[in-house]
Amino acid sequence: MASFVRVCQKGNFVHNRYLATVNGKVAIFRIDGKYYGISNVCAHIAGPIIDGDLDKHGYVVCPWHGHRYDLKTGKAGGSPERVETFSIPHGPSARK
Ligand code: FES
Repeated sequence: MASFVRVCQKGNFVHNRYLATVNGKVAIFRIDGKYYGISNVCAHIAGPIIDGDLDKHGYVVCPWHGHRYDLKTGKAGGSPERVETFSIPHGPSARK
Protein backbone atom coordinates (compact mmCIF):
# COMPACT_ATOMS: atom_id res chain seq x y z
CA MET A 1 0.00 0.00 0.00
CA ALA A 2 1.33 3.39 -0.94
CA SER A 3 1.97 5.91 1.76
CA PHE A 4 1.99 9.64 1.28
CA VAL A 5 3.69 12.51 3.02
CA ARG A 6 2.14 15.95 3.13
CA VAL A 7 4.68 18.28 1.56
CA CYS A 8 2.80 21.52 0.92
CA GLN A 9 -0.49 23.32 0.58
CA LYS A 10 -1.91 24.97 -2.52
CA GLY A 11 -1.03 28.39 -1.09
CA ASN A 12 2.66 27.46 -1.08
CA PHE A 13 2.91 27.50 -4.87
CA VAL A 14 4.62 30.46 -6.52
CA HIS A 15 4.12 30.71 -10.28
CA ASN A 16 2.60 27.20 -10.20
CA ARG A 17 5.70 25.56 -8.77
CA TYR A 18 6.98 24.52 -5.38
CA LEU A 19 10.24 22.93 -4.22
CA ALA A 20 9.56 20.29 -1.57
CA THR A 21 12.16 18.68 0.61
CA VAL A 22 11.27 15.04 1.02
CA ASN A 23 13.65 12.19 0.14
CA GLY A 24 15.84 14.85 -1.44
CA LYS A 25 14.43 17.73 -3.43
CA VAL A 26 11.23 17.31 -5.40
CA ALA A 27 10.11 19.96 -7.87
CA ILE A 28 6.31 20.09 -7.99
CA PHE A 29 4.60 21.77 -10.93
CA ARG A 30 0.91 22.65 -11.17
CA ILE A 31 -0.38 22.64 -14.73
CA ASP A 32 -4.07 23.03 -15.56
CA GLY A 33 -5.03 21.85 -12.08
CA LYS A 34 -2.82 18.74 -12.18
CA TYR A 35 0.30 18.25 -10.10
CA TYR A 36 3.56 16.68 -11.25
CA GLY A 37 6.49 15.78 -9.02
CA ILE A 38 9.95 15.30 -10.46
CA SER A 39 13.43 15.18 -9.01
CA ASN A 40 14.91 18.64 -8.74
CA VAL A 41 18.33 17.28 -9.75
CA CYS A 42 19.00 17.21 -13.48
CA ALA A 43 20.63 13.97 -14.65
CA HIS A 44 23.23 15.92 -16.65
CA ILE A 45 25.19 17.76 -13.97
CA ALA A 46 22.56 18.43 -11.32
CA GLY A 47 20.95 21.63 -12.53
CA PRO A 48 17.89 22.85 -10.60
CA ILE A 49 14.83 21.55 -12.45
CA ILE A 50 12.53 23.81 -10.40
CA ASP A 51 13.93 26.84 -12.26
CA GLY A 52 13.24 25.39 -15.70
CA ASP A 53 10.71 26.66 -18.18
CA LEU A 54 7.82 24.47 -19.27
CA ASP A 55 7.36 23.82 -22.96
CA LYS A 56 4.11 23.21 -24.79
CA HIS A 57 4.69 19.44 -24.89
CA GLY A 58 4.69 18.94 -21.12
CA TYR A 59 8.43 18.96 -20.68
CA VAL A 60 10.40 20.98 -18.19
CA VAL A 61 13.62 22.40 -19.61
CA CYS A 62 16.67 22.42 -17.34
CA PRO A 63 17.86 26.03 -17.05
CA TRP A 64 21.55 25.16 -17.20
CA HIS A 65 22.01 23.35 -20.52
CA GLY A 66 18.53 22.72 -21.85
CA HIS A 67 17.90 19.02 -21.23
CA ARG A 68 14.16 18.41 -21.40
CA TYR A 69 12.27 16.06 -19.09
CA ASP A 70 8.76 14.66 -19.43
CA LEU A 71 6.98 15.59 -16.20
CA LYS A 72 4.94 12.36 -16.29
CA THR A 73 7.75 9.87 -16.88
CA GLY A 74 10.98 11.68 -16.04
CA LYS A 75 12.43 10.60 -19.40
CA ALA A 76 14.68 13.07 -21.11
CA GLY A 77 13.77 14.09 -24.63
CA GLY A 78 16.53 13.16 -27.06
CA SER A 79 18.77 11.27 -24.62
CA PRO A 80 18.63 8.09 -22.50
CA GLU A 81 18.73 10.04 -19.25
CA ARG A 82 15.87 9.92 -16.80
CA VAL A 83 15.02 11.45 -13.44
CA GLU A 84 12.69 10.13 -10.78
CA THR A 85 9.04 11.22 -10.77
CA PHE A 86 6.58 11.24 -7.88
CA SER A 87 2.84 10.83 -7.54
CA ILE A 88 1.29 14.02 -6.18
CA PRO A 89 -2.22 13.32 -4.88
CA HIS A 90 -4.16 16.40 -3.94
CA GLY A 91 -7.57 17.56 -2.87
CA PRO A 92 -9.89 16.10 -0.20
CA SER A 93 -9.07 12.48 -1.08
CA ALA A 94 -5.39 13.11 -0.31
CA ARG A 95 -6.17 14.35 3.19
CA LYS A 96 -6.22 11.82 5.99
S1 FES B 1 22.59 20.42 -15.64
FE1 FES B 1 20.66 20.18 -16.60
S2 FES B 1 21.12 20.23 -18.68
FE2 FES B 1 23.02 20.43 -17.74
